[in-house]
Amino acid sequence: MTAQPGNDAFVVFDHVQKSYDGQTLVVKDLNLSIGKGEFLTMLGPSGSGKTTCLMMLAGFETATHGEILLDGKNINDVPPHKRGIGMVFQNYALFPHMTVGENLSFPLEVRGMSKSEREERVTRALDMVQMGKFKNRRPAQLSGGQQQRIALARALVFDPKLVLMDEPLGALDKQLREHMQFEIKALHDRLGITVVYVTHDQGEALTMSDRIAVFNDGRIQQLAPPPSLYEQPENSFVAGFIGENNALRGTIQELQGDKALVRLTNGELIDATAVNIRERGQETTVSIRPERVEFKPELMPRDAHTIEAKVRDVVYMGDILRARLCVAGQDDFVMKYRNTLGQVKLSPGQSIRIGWHPEDARALDPV
Ligand SMILES: Nc1ncnc2c1ncn2[C@@H]1O[C@H](COP(=O)(O)OP(=O)(O)OP(=O)(O)O)[C@@H](O)[C@H]1O
Ligand SMILES: [Mg+2]
Repeated sequence: MTAQPGNDAFVVFDHVQKSYDGQTLVVKDLNLSIGKGEFLTMLGPSGSGKTTCLMMLAGFETATHGEILLDGKNINDVPPHKRGIGMVFQNYALFPHMTVGENLSFPLEVRGMSKSEREERVTRALDMVQMGKFKNRRPAQLSGGQQQRIALARALVFDPKLVLMDEPLGALDKQLREHMQFEIKALHDRLGITVVYVTHDQGEALTMSDRIAVFNDGRIQQLAPPPSLYEQPENSFVAGFIGENNALRGTIQELQGDKALVRLTNGELIDATAVNIRERGQETTVSIRPERVEFKPELMPRDAHTIEAKVRDVVYMGDILRARLCVAGQDDFVMKYRNTLGQVKLSPGQSIRIGWHPEDARALDPV
């Protein structure tokens, strides 16, 4: 994939590579174009290169190869403090000996702003995160969530056009994290700033982002809005990384356009939608989301594919039930169904027929 900066491309990574030791590339040919006002999340497992990309954009690391553009200008040689980028990191320490107000004033002093303007901006930034009353406290006198809000205010206080956030909510408990996700998103929408956000929490990525770049092994595996990432994964890594997924192994028996007939390892044939499949005979993994599987296939429209399954166990999860099944010789097949009144009870050992629509079965690369 090559970056195609449109008129509104604000950040562009153009064939960017990074190696720390001169041997291994931890970022491999990154091409990414981020629009003005976009909320873009880099999501991926530990070590996949997310922070490295953010550090190169911030200017704390240099690219080994390629160019980074900000608002159309190459910033490879621009030092961090001249890039006008706001930053929030996990446990990004506030200065402990300074009050909240002084912490916020600091980046403005560095920029040579007058006292009156500094005061005005600090007040505005604190109001933005509803922390106006805490101006004279020291960081140690604040809760974790409040400190993180101050860190956010400090990143926004000089009106940056671009804000980078690296796991900013990682240290907070679940409830506070969800609340802050909402606040950050609301601030983004209100201020119209461009945000590049890094997380390895897929739920966080799905709820906050305009687009998500899924990273693995130094490469973007897929770049798409949250719904397409979940519903149209382009490879097995993305299918497995985002949400729960069933992966049935098989071989492409027939291929016509994007329609494939797949022979599963136990010999059974199923229809699937071919994604980046080139030819017959190719190995494949068929991805099916657990909630797209029905265990009353007779109630589904005629084109449903049905298959035998044996119930292994059923886990009660309140609003839904999660059944683990043996399908086509694989023991790890999961089906989720709603816990509605009068729902049939499945029990271990029971043989059932399940079904799904062929468009919900995606034949991807083998794992
Ligand atoms: N300063 C450094 N010197 C040498 N190697 C580094 C340095 N920083 C990161 N790396 C290596 O580069 C790779 C990518 O690291 P990076 O921090 O970008 O990953 P990440 O996706 O942010 O992971 P995490 O989710 O754990 O924060 C890793 O293999 C890491 O060990
Ligand atoms: Mg990181």
